[in-house]
Order: sequence, then structure tokens, then C-alpha cells
Amino acid sequence: MNQNIFKQNYKINRLDREKLLDQKGLVLWFTGLSGSGKSTLANSVEIFLHKKKKHTLLLDGDNLRHGLSNDLTFSPEDRKENIRRVSHVANLVADSGLIVLSAFVSPFKSDREEASRIIGKNRFIEIYVECPLSVCESRDIKGLYLKAREGIISDFTGVTSPFETPEFPSITVNTETTNIENCTKKIISYLSKNHA
Ligand code: ADX
Repeated sequence: MNQNIFKQNYKINRLDREKLLDQKGLVLWFTGLSGSGKSTLANSVEIFLHKKKKHTLLLDGDNLRHGLSNDLTFSPEDRKENIRRVSHVANLVADSGLIVLSAFVSPFKSDREEASRIIGKNRFIEIYVECPLSVCESRDIKGLYLKAREGIISDFTGVTSPFETPEFPSITVNTETTNIENCTKKIISYLSKNHA
């Protein structure tokens, strides 16, 4: 922390912005293996919220790694840095009063805990997108599991890098047994009960 940098206070704060938008800033944090359906589900939830005239922003792992995090690899240290950056972005966007949907593998418990700390526990909603590795691997939409098995790419989550299952997620959706429509309903129902 630089001792010569001071925090500035401004007159318009988060509460003012939330009042104007008539909604509360939130972060829906989707975590799960590559191919588990995080992006598809986040997209589906965002469409639902958008139709309800809610203001949203979707942050996607693949997209952010083309810009903000294009200097990072998939080593544990770089994933930590990726999640740290994304958490600060999500926090700022939630401070602007938006509902953020973030879809990152975020395989490490400590990184997700740090995200929750940065964003604030009461507005960080961890959504575990559960799907067996064998199913993600059989889907292999991007052909990455095959590359990981052949040793062409390293540190691949589920193959050569661990995925630490969330212990107490706010919501768990299983995309093997439940279709996207019903997973979306489960998330929306949680939101209307807990964050109306
Ligand atoms: S995270 O671990 O840092 O949260 P992030 O969500 O940004 O990962 O990026 C994951 C995406 O990058 C996956 O959806 C996948 O398409 C791609 N990818 C490429 N290499 C890897 C890898 N080694 N491990 C996991 N995902 C990878």
C-alpha cells in the first residue's frame, strides 16, 4: 500500500446510485469447471433480469482474458491475480448499482473467499455450477480437454490443476441433471427470496 496515496471521498455514493436505479448492486459469482455451463447460465439469468428491467453487466472469463487479464497464464498465482482484478471490477460495478454476473472457473477456495471479502459478503452470491468432470469432458465444446489430455496445454482445471468444490455456496445448480431453464428459475427464486 502506497503511503502517499489517500482515499478520496465524493458526495454521490452507492446508495444514491442504487436509489436512482431502484435496485441494489449485487454480484452473482458463478464458479465451476470449464464446460459446466457457467456462461450459458449467466447469460440466461441476465436475459431474465434484463426483461424485468434490471440493470446488469456480465463479466466472462474467456472475454476478460482477451483484455484486462491478457498478460496472465493459468498458474495458481496468475489465477489468483485474475480473480483479484475481476473482484475489484465487479465491486466497482456493483457500487454503481448494477447486478454483476461473473462467470469464471475460479477453482481455488482462497481466491473466492478473497472475492467475497473485496465485494462484501452481503452482496456476494456464490453459485456453484455443478457438473461431473466426465460430462464436461464429453461436451468438450472448445476442444480444450482433449488438448489438456494430450499435454498440449498445461494447468488445465480438472485434469492437471485442481477444482476446489465450494463448501457453502449460496446456490448449487446441477447442469447434468437440470436444464438451463430450471437452473435459471432456481437462481431467480433465490434472488426474489433473499434480495428482493
Ligand atoms: S480462472 O481459473 O482464472 O477463473 P477463467 O475463468 O478466467 O479461469 O478462464 C477459464 C477459461 O479459459 C475456460 O473457460 C477455458 O475456455 C479457457 N482455458 C484455457 N486454458 C485453460 C486452463 N489451463 N484451465 C482452465 N481454463 C482454461
